[in-house]
Amino acid sequence: MNLAHRMDGGTMLGMSESFPIVQAGHPVLRTPAAPVPAEMIGTPALDELITRMVMAMRQAPGVGLAAPQIGIGYQIIVLEDTEERMARLTAEQRDERGRQPFPLTVILNPALQLLEGERAVFFEGCLSVAGYAALVERARAVEVTGLTPHGEPLRWQVSGWPARILQHEVDHVRGTLYVDRMLTRSFCSAEEAQSRWIDAPVAAVRAALRT
Ligand code: CO
Repeated sequence: MNLAHRMDGGTMLGMSESFPIVQAGHPVLRTPAAPVPAEMIGTPALDELITRMVMAMRQAPGVGLAAPQIGIGYQIIVLEDTEERMARLTAEQRDERGRQPFPLTVILNPALQLLEGERAVFFEGCLSVAGYAALVERARAVEVTGLTPHGEPLRWQVSGWPARILQHEVDHVRGTLYVDRMLTRSFCSAEEAQSRWIDAPVAAVRAALRT
């Protein structure tokens, strides 16, 4: 997932290799991904795949990536958010989005439970739908379970922006894109989203776009 408000450049970690991101229209993004088999865990092949995903995410830059986005049909997601990425948000905006830094997290075979309660509507973008953004309603809190890259069970209950990223990335491994869930009339070019709506309250965006 990328953000409508990623205007922060993103460091390339000195990488010269580029990591192309598969774009909407490629069937791999629409095909449910296979679970990572137990025998693959701990292999150099899996480690390399995860490394490529992390590099692709950071290079883009994005706050999350699923394996189908680099053309690999396995249920693997990576996500990460940093202080640097949210530097331009005010304290109020961070609070409203529930934006909080969290360390690099890699989840194999993720399963998601949406927790009851409030839902949240914000702009979302996707590295595989480059150049666009739209409002998407999501659960504000989720619990994800799955495996770490070492095959250990993982359970993470979280709310706010990480919960949105998790919903977006787990959708990817099920063959779903945010455009399937967006408020269709809020669909924006990334340029319009950034220049016109980035700092506007969601209610104002919805009123202006009549959605
Ligand atoms: Co995406």
